[in-house]
Parts: sequence; C-alpha cells; structure tokens
Amino acid sequence: MTGLLDGKRLLITGVITDASIGFHVARAAQEQGASVVLTGYGRLSLVERIAQRLPTPAPVVELDVTDDAQLASLPDRLREHVDGLDGVLHSIGFAPPSCLGEHFLDTPWDDVATAMHVSAYSLKSLAVAALPLMDRGGTIVGLDFDARQAWPAYNWMGVAKAALESCARYLARELGPQGIRVNLVAAGPLKTMAAKAIPGFAAFEDAWSDRAPLGWDVTDPTPVAKTCCALLSDWFPATTGSMVWVDGGFHAQGV
Ligand SMILES: NC(=O)c1ccc[n+]([C@@H]2O[C@H](COP(=O)([O-])OP(=O)(O)OC[C@H]3O[C@@H](n4cnc5c(N)ncnc54)[C@H](O)[C@@H]3O)[C@@H](O)[C@H]2O)c1
Repeated sequence: MTGLLDGKRLLITGVITDASIGFHVARAAQEQGASVVLTGYGRLSLVERIAQRLPTPAPVVELDVTDDAQLASLPDRLREHVDGLDGVLHSIGFAPPSCLGEHFLDTPWDDVATAMHVSAYSLKSLAVAALPLMDRGGTIVGLDFDARQAWPAYNWMGVAKAALESCARYLARELGPQGIRVNLVAAGPLKTMAAKAIPGFAAFEDAWSDRAPLGWDVTDPTPVAKTCCALLSDWFPATTGSMVWVDGGFHAQGV
C-alpha cells in the first residue's frame, strides 16, 4: 500500500511531550510515508528524547519563533537534514498566565503582546523562514481553537487565535501564487501541556462530551493528527485560507 504522504518532506513544530499534537502528527505522517524534521523550543534535550519515540527517530532543529536570528538561519540548518520542504505544521501556542483565567480586563499589554507574537505572528514568521525550501509549492497547516466566539478563561489566548485565523487568510492570499496553501485545523480540547495552562479546562471537557454529536475524547489526539496529515497531503489541492473543524461536530450545534 502507498501512504498518503509518500515522499513528502515535512517540518513539524510544537513537540514538547508525547501528548503534544505535533508529536501525533509527526507519528501519523511517518506512518503515511513522510520524512519529518522537528523543531524544538527551550528544552532541546527533552524534545530530542521524545523524537526518539517516533517510528523513525526524527532530527530536531532549535527554533524559538520569536528569535529573528534562529528564524533567519533556519533554512541552512534544515538543509543539513532535507533538500526541501513540502509541508509545515505550526503547532505553537503560548500566553503568559495573566492572559488566561478570570481577569480579562486587567491583562497588561506586554503579556498580550507575548501571546500575539508566539501564537499568531509566528505563523507568518515560520512561513517566511520555511519559504526558501518550498520552491515547489506546498502546504502550511496551523492548529487553532475556534476563535469565532468567546470562551470562559481562554481570554487573550482567544484573541491571539482570532489573529491567527486572520493571519492564515492573509498568508493564503500572499502565498497562493507560489502554489502554497495555508489552512488551520480547529481542534476540540485535548489534554496536553498547553491545555494544562488553561484554568477551568475541565469545563471544556464537560461541554464537549455533552454537545458533540460524534462524541469527543480529550485524551485522543488521533482525529486531529489524521486531519492535519490529510491537509499536508495532495488531497486538498484547491483549499486555502480555510479552517477545518476537528471537534466531533461541537461547533455546528446549539445548546
Ligand atoms: N490542547 C488543546 O486543547 C488544543 C486545542 C486546539 C488547539 N490547540 C493548539 O495546538 C497547538 C499545540 O498545542 P498542544 O496542545 O499540542 O500543546 P503543547 O504544550 O504540547 O505544544 C505547544 C508547543 O508550543 C511550543 N512553543 C511555545 N513557545 C514557543 C516559541 N517561542 N517558539 C517555538 N515553539 C514554542 C512549545 O514548545 C510546545 O511544543 C497550539 O497552537 C494550541 O493552541 C490545542
């Protein structure tokens, strides 16, 4: 059998534990025939250890998406492992604690700016850094939490996700003429390190299992990983600037 991603060269960000959405996308992508390079932020040796747990241990290159020098040197550092890229996964989010919880009105701009820089502007930064290796076109996929509405506690991270959604549409506009598609997967809640930082995450779990027509398992990242792989494949050839919900159908239901 041939794999959905046979011959594809993918850059996958956002792996910090083996619960990370990025880790599950990397695993599913390798199972479908892709070769994968990971980026790691901060605790590099930890990311390198997690990379060994993939079906094929993947190389890890360092990338802080807010570091201009690391972004500029990314193409050269990637060329040590791959001769080009067909796809990029943006699976990065961070907001300082003051951005989440009960105090929407009190969050200082510096903290909001950090959330915006790491979680939204970084989609553009990563795309520009990867561009020199995407001379045959390709696909960029980002991870979103539906920002068309306000959620309890998600606060300024929700505002950053709204910016991410808009950024994806503008990138789609800029990069379409180069044959590069840009899409987001709006995932339902999953128990990862990023989710642990959200106070009251349990409220999402209860709401999802009550409302999603297909049901939803917060411990199972497989549906999200499979959809990311589908978007990273050649099977969404005319889709860009779009958001695909992988949430058990929650977004389409009322109370
Ligand atoms: N877990 C959920 O419920 C859920 C739902 C929808 C969307 N998402 C999104 O999925 C993405 C991945 O999150 P996750 O849930 O797998 O959690 P995670 O904590 O495993 O991954 C978040 C990643 O962001 C990386 N990161 C943070 N700051 C960075 C920086 N400056 N430069 C580079 N990388 C940096 C971390 O190293 C980590 O690998 C995020 O965008 C998140 O908002 C998560």
